[in-house]
Amino acid sequence: MTKQKLTIIILAAGKGKRMSSGVPKVLHTLAGIPLLEHVINTAKNLKPDHIYVVYGNGGQEVRERILGHDIEWIQQKEALGTGHAVMQVLPHLQAEQQVLILYGDVPLISATTLRALIKNKNPHGLGILVTEFDNPTGFGRIIRDESKNILSIVEEKDTTSDQKKIKEINTGIMFVSAQHLKKWLPKLSNHGNAQSEYYLTDVVAMAVGDGVSVHGSLADCPEEVRGVNNLVELAHLEHFYQRKKAHELLMQGIRIMDSDRFDLRGNLIAGQDTLIDINVVIEGNVTIGERCTIGPNVVLRNVTLGDDVTIEPNCVIEDAIIAKECTIGPFARIRPGTKLDEKVRVGNFVEVKNTQMGKHSKANHLSYLGDTQIGEDVNIGAGVITVNYDGANKHQTIIEDYAFIGCDSQLIAPVVIGKNATIGAGSTITQDAPKDELTIARSKQQTISGWQRPKKKTK
Ligand code: UD1
Ligand code: MG
Repeated sequence: MTKQKLTIIILAAGKGKRMSSGVPKVLHTLAGIPLLEHVINTAKNLKPDHIYVVYGNGGQEVRERILGHDIEWIQQKEALGTGHAVMQVLPHLQAEQQVLILYGDVPLISATTLRALIKNKNPHGLGILVTEFDNPTGFGRIIRDESKNILSIVEEKDTTSDQKKIKEINTGIMFVSAQHLKKWLPKLSNHGNAQSEYYLTDVVAMAVGDGVSVHGSLADCPEEVRGVNNLVELAHLEHFYQRKKAHELLMQGIRIMDSDRFDLRGNLIAGQDTLIDINVVIEGNVTIGERCTIGPNVVLRNVTLGDDVTIEPNCVIEDAIIAKECTIGPFARIRPGTKLDEKVRVGNFVEVKNTQMGKHSKANHLSYLGDTQIGEDVNIGAGVITVNYDGANKHQTIIEDYAFIGCDSQLIAPVVIGKNATIGAGSTITQDAPKDELTIARSKQQTISGWQRPKKKTK
């Protein structure tokens, strides 16, 4: 790679009309990440001195959403074409900089392909990334002479019927010195083309006119260089990306039952012999240990699972840490702030929020456990509710080791259930329950003997 300073310009000011959406095109997500952010992440991989993002339509929204990157935003007030977009950055460029131009709506371009483009270009020349499509409709065509030298790029709308047959297309990605851009861009015209735009692609013919060599670097994965112009193209790239990720995980020894029904919207680290059943959605940063089973229709968002964890079908688990050998679900909801120690069991229709459960504790059926600290070997019966909210504030429940909470009890927080205490079923507990004792808070059962059911009156 050249030792000259690398500057990257990402064009993201296009209107994106064909998305038929109120959301700016570059904010549409692929694998849960905005299109533009994919490109920024790849750009950062190349360690440039500067990354400029040219924004326009929906600009404020784009700037507000894409945070935490060391980038410089340049506004293009009117989308007058790709050449006009790059012109907005010209005043910021020094002649000796080498400029890589990327598109904010070509999300899957890889650093490897870009490095090849950078490497292949003659230091004084112009490099363009090209590829071949069986159906090149919509793309700028690469025009070459008999000796295969590149002469120019002709946009689809400006092609002759012969040029339409050319399958070699311009991906739009270009590598060129700032010195050349400063010379060529001011000469661009928006006259004489079908879209009345300033085409960046016109610099290719200018280079040829100036005797500057033009190198076409071939991108061999079509999906990498495909832009997103409508939701069909976005769906295609999403599918491609998901299959690729599933393939990588399978190769690492993670059994994905059907790679067509697996979705990763973030980062997943998983141990060997873990099985991921169909329709599992992984979001944010997820770590799964070895020999885990993730049942069908499960959502895991920012969670860490230890080894040998079983998630039964239809669970939603978010911002939680689950230690080894736990079993969750089916139909459990684990919410943020949950921490489960080893061998905990959370069963069907149990919701757990901001709660810690110690080793071997169980809540098998139909419970709400919120803002609760539960010790070891605690048994939470069916239908138990921690009443944590008084309408204004949240309060904590503490349940100490070996406690047994009978079915259908409500623990009105703040409250402490002592070690080895037993709560009789159907109790509404409003005060601390002492250790080792049975506490029961329900009306006594009585039988009224000889009582008769009312009878229907006869007329
Ligand atoms: C462009 C290329 C075409 C290439 C195709 C590849 C030109 C003239 N044509 O066409 O040769 O085959 O990409 O996908 O360059 N943008 C701005 N400001 C503008 C216009 C566009 O920032 O005023 C940005 C868009 O947000 C987008 C990129 O530039 O990221 C490309 O714009 P688009 O309108 O999609 O160009 P194409 O017509 O597809
Ligand atoms: Mg396009």
